Amino acid sequence: MCGIVGAVSTRNIVPILVQGLQRLEYRGYDSCGVAVYADGLKRARSVARVAELMSQVDSEKIAGGTGIAHTRWATHGAPAVHNAHPHFSHGPGEAAPQAPGRIALVHNGIIENHDELRAALQAKGYKFTSQTDTEVIAHLVDSLYEGDLFDAVKAATKQLHGAYAIAVFCKDEPHRVVGAREGSPLVLGVGKDENFLASDAMALAGVTDQIVYLEEGDLVDLQLGRYWIVDRNHKAAERPVKTVQAHSGAAELGPYRHYMQKEIFEQPRAIGDTLQGVESVTPELFGDGAYRIFKDVDSVLILACGTSYYSGCTAKYWLEAIAKIPTQVEIASEYRYRESVPNPKTLVVTISQSGETADTLAALKHARSLGMENTLTVCNVSTSAMVRECKLAYITRAGVEIGVASTKAFTTQLAGLFLLTLSLAQVRGKLTETQEAQHLKDMRHLPTALQAVLALEPQVISWAEDFANKENALFLGRGMHYPIALEGALKLKEISYIHAEAYPAGELKHGPLALVTSEMPVVTVAPNDALLEKLKSNMQEVRARGGLLYVLADADSKIESSEGVHVIRMPEHYGTLSPLLHVVPLQLLAYHTALARGTDVDKPRNLAKSVTVE
Ligand code: M6R
Repeated sequence: MCGIVGAVSTRNIVPILVQGLQRLEYRGYDSCGVAVYADGLKRARSVARVAELMSQVDSEKIAGGTGIAHTRWATHGAPAVHNAHPHFSHGPGEAAPQAPGRIALVHNGIIENHDELRAALQAKGYKFTSQTDTEVIAHLVDSLYEGDLFDAVKAATKQLHGAYAIAVFCKDEPHRVVGAREGSPLVLGVGKDENFLASDAMALAGVTDQIVYLEEGDLVDLQLGRYWIVDRNHKAAERPVKTVQAHSGAAELGPYRHYMQKEIFEQPRAIGDTLQGVESVTPELFGDGAYRIFKDVDSVLILACGTSYYSGCTAKYWLEAIAKIPTQVEIASEYRYRESVPNPKTLVVTISQSGETADTLAALKHARSLGMENTLTVCNVSTSAMVRECKLAYITRAGVEIGVASTKAFTTQLAGLFLLTLSLAQVRGKLTETQEAQHLKDMRHLPTALQAVLALEPQVISWAEDFANKENALFLGRGMHYPIALEGALKLKEISYIHAEAYPAGELKHGPLALVTSEMPVVTVAPNDALLEKLKSNMQEVRARGGLLYVLADADSKIESSEGVHVIRMPEHYGTLSPLLHVVPLQLLAYHTALARGTDVDKPRNLAKSVTVE
């Protein structure tokens, strides 16, 4: 989703700004732009990739020591150059609306009262050249400017409702950039006689590793060799400077064609890293004080979005079956707005790859506002807002995930959630030493088991050839493999644009069976568990209607290929941890189907990697 980079320096910062945007490209965007001070405001904007913007900047010789840059993921107004950031103010006295005005501004987030503000500014004579909510902020800052940009931004933010991270500069104060955040992430990078702003530390990799994480409501005044932070009440605020070894988002593809493919194949390593150092089951794996919290709680509430929500749905089966703790899983964007019954003895667990998902963060805050203070996150980014906001954390070590379709983040989340299950079970007296030893042994074997599943790729490719010319698909699962069916359907729809739905197999005859014809492929996740015989009956229901079955069977499921029934046999039966293995062929199926259909696998249309607006 949108990315911000800003800088104040004595050197030409345009290359740093544009490289910063390149490092944020993985988040997804549809246009980009950069503005600098060079005897006035100068900017370049593009609806092409950041590399194009770089060529434009070079050919137009745009250079300067103070500037801001942005990748935009459209919310208000179509992806178009006139809607791309940075936006300039056009005050009532300024002639042509297209001419650079006084203020340049970039913004992540959504301003909810933009219509009202726009009307008031238009009444004052401000001219708008875009459909964005962002241009409203540029004009608002201009309307409040009386010679001090920091004061103008302070006054402007008081009038904004919604979520924002902004970076702004003014042609009348050429060595100053002001930033503010509320609901969207923004970090300050401290350099030697120069300072930077960015959506995340990764954008500043190689520029500075001295990072200040701005807090909600903070405003920051960046000048050459100094910076100044105030909180939402405009009181001076001290924020720690952290040394952050951010790795560049531009990880090497190596022998792979796409990041998604690379990330699928990295899963044995990612799981191995995530479990590294886990010698025994102990609450301390989740941070200091975990034992006291685990002892105190009587239920679990999981909050997450998308793929992370499905890992939560899988964990519910484990938490209730093994730790015997009542567990609820909620889509964050629903939970944050519904009236629920809070229980202060609940362990609130957020799950997030990025740790910056706006809905999950807001749901967490909502839970806390209801008096639920026991918070834990399973997250892939140790420096993220999610980790900073929760008391306890399990950091998955998937490594940077660049493909928009989440893969290795999912399986590493499952590994973290399984450990959480075992820890809660232990504290609640539901785990014997023998059981603990067996579970740990099974977990340690996962990288090897995953390698064997990845070797099924050629068989999955032959399924993908069938799927490539379909427009609909059904996914079925039962028990803890129902969320795996949901995740398989999400992967397929997200990157191949095939309409895919998942159902608990028992629900088939309550409606979706009406969709089944000889044109409908039905993927069935069929491990050899207690529900296998029931699932086999559901499969018969599909075959009787001419539906084509694609079955992921276990080594010992006793399901054979026959006419209309395509079986891939998993290498070994994996019991409780089998969801981690069964999801892998479904990831590969989505990947190879998308490849056959020629879609943009790593950057599917309309989607962003990090969803920092609600
Ligand atoms: O960073 P998060 O895990 O919080 O992101 C949640 C979802 O936006 C994410 O899982 C999304 O559904 C993926 N594109 C799915 O592949």
